[in-house]
Amino acid sequence: MYQRKFIVIEGLDGSGKGTQISRLAEALTNRGISLQLTAEPTLHATGGLVRDALGGITKRSAAELAGLFLADRIAHCQNPHDGIAALLESGITVVCDRYYYSSFAYQGMDLGLDWVMSANLDCPAILKPDLCIFLDVPTEVADKRISLGRTSREIFEEAETIERVRRKYFEVFGILSGTHNVKIINAARTPDEVFADVWAAASEIFDGTEK
Ligand code: TYD
Repeated sequence: MYQRKFIVIEGLDGSGKGTQISRLAEALTNRGISLQLTAEPTLHATGGLVRDALGGITKRSAAELAGLFLADRIAHCQNPHDGIAALLESGITVVCDRYYYSSFAYQGMDLGLDWVMSANLDCPAILKPDLCIFLDVPTEVADKRISLGRTSREIFEEAETIERVRRKYFEVFGILSGTHNVKIINAARTPDEVFADVWAAASEIFDGTEK
């Protein structure tokens, strides 16, 4: 029996998060770890409002969007049925596709980091992950992968924005260094090579925690 962990996977759009999350889920399950995959924006009502704004269906100011992501994250953590807190409480490890590091990088660009970071980090309803894996790709690689996979782009998927987001992520990880367990992995390699590093980072937090 392993202790349950809360793992977040972050990366630019087009960084290959989906592939690595599937592989991580398979490997953890094979190791006998009970697991739930989850993602932000969520499937809760707040997540729907966020998606409408990302797709340009509803126009939202940057502050409104940050507030919606925050509300969505609180629901994500605290929902009594499928919330992250409830899952961890019942011994289930959670692997989450994006979390507050995305808010810091994307909403922090327009609003400044201070407000976005303190609103999330100081909120007692929002849980701190045990590990954040950042899949890093150069902007050109992200841009190319988005072009291959889509017919239309969301509001944060234009090339200049992608570059600004990447820089913001690195600024955020600098600020959080020493207080958050962040592993930055070069994701501009083959899926196998990337996964070797993802698995090493994930295994590290489970080692020695069997109970
Ligand atoms: P989506 O297409 O749902 O997922 P992904 O790109 O991860 O496959 O897009 C989510 C978008 O929302 C992405 O552009 C990043 C953005 N985002 C924020 O701006 N702030 C946040 O807090 C989160 C969680 C996501």
